[in-house]
Amino acid sequence: MIQEIEQLIQEIQQLNINSTEEAESIRVKYLSRKGILAQLFSKIGTVPASERAKTGAKLNAIKQLLQDKIDTLQHSLSETTAQFDFDFTLTSKPFHYGKLHPLTLVEKEVIQIFEHMGYIVAEGPEIETDWYNFSALNFEPHHPARDMQDTFFISLNPDVLLRTHTSSVQVRVMEKERPPIRIVALGRVYRNETITARANCLFHQLEVLYVDKNVSMADLKRDLLHFAQEMFGKHTKIRLRASYFPFTEVSAEVDISCTICGGKGCNVCKHTGWVEILGCGMVDPNVLNNVGINSEEYSGFAAGLGIERIAMLKYQINDLRLFFENDIRFLQQF
Ligand code: DAH
Repeated sequence: MIQEIEQLIQEIQQLNINSTEEAESIRVKYLSRKGILAQLFSKIGTVPASERAKTGAKLNAIKQLLQDKIDTLQHSLSETTAQFDFDFTLTSKPFHYGKLHPLTLVEKEVIQIFEHMGYIVAEGPEIETDWYNFSALNFEPHHPARDMQDTFFISLNPDVLLRTHTSSVQVRVMEKERPPIRIVALGRVYRNETITARANCLFHQLEVLYVDKNVSMADLKRDLLHFAQEMFGKHTKIRLRASYFPFTEVSAEVDISCTICGGKGCNVCKHTGWVEILGCGMVDPNVLNNVGINSEEYSGFAAGLGIERIAMLKYQINDLRLFFENDIRFLQQF
């Protein structure tokens, strides 16, 4: 009997069950009422009393082993069928695609235009020191121009602030690199402004900086005109109006011919035919000297554009707050 059991164990270990039919015939052969195991159980009385308990336990273990084998097979077969257990002819559920935020779309486009002109993307921190945001940019300590930018200071330390413009990145780049420098820097800027349709305490700017030997206003006009025409269409014109920024001398504001009426006059351009898009100028020699670039040898131009302003013109949006409210009805339109 013991021998028979040992043989049976070996036999079972080698069993390979591959289909439900095989599983069923194995079950009948070994586990049914007249199966091999039942027969062995019925012969247990012939085993010497001292061996009986051990033999019974062995037979039970074999029974379990077989049952496990059959169960595993059935489980794996049922999983395979479950994979295909649906109706391929059903129509799918509607799929909602995500969209890029309009500001992101504009940012990507603006960056690409400048990259094609040979500009490299630079970055700077949003938490800045007075040096990078103001002093190095030729804002004198008590210069009223500091008040033009309502600064958020961080804690009580007047030296640490949220940058009010991306011009701070100019200083960071010029301190590290030597000319020729041709960069654009994009990012968030912060000002303590009341939130209205035209102003927000957080917005986005793109800074443009080109420093090399003999850089002139002609270079500035060429690159900004190219940008405006790429962004708003090739018939777009630009005009420069004299302005003031502490870090540029001369300084100008740039208008483009109105994208809505083509210059004829409409609500958007307040019937002037022109809309303002950016500030710019020749980098003030003091700024170059502050960062250790010889202003006798080098010159440069800089510009700062508001991303929201460009997006508003491009998509004819008349309320700045829409960009920040994340209203899905607005965002879905881009
Ligand atoms: N930083 C200015 C602002 O936020 C914008 C600006 C004007 C940037 C002239 C420039 C520039 O680089 O040349 O108001």
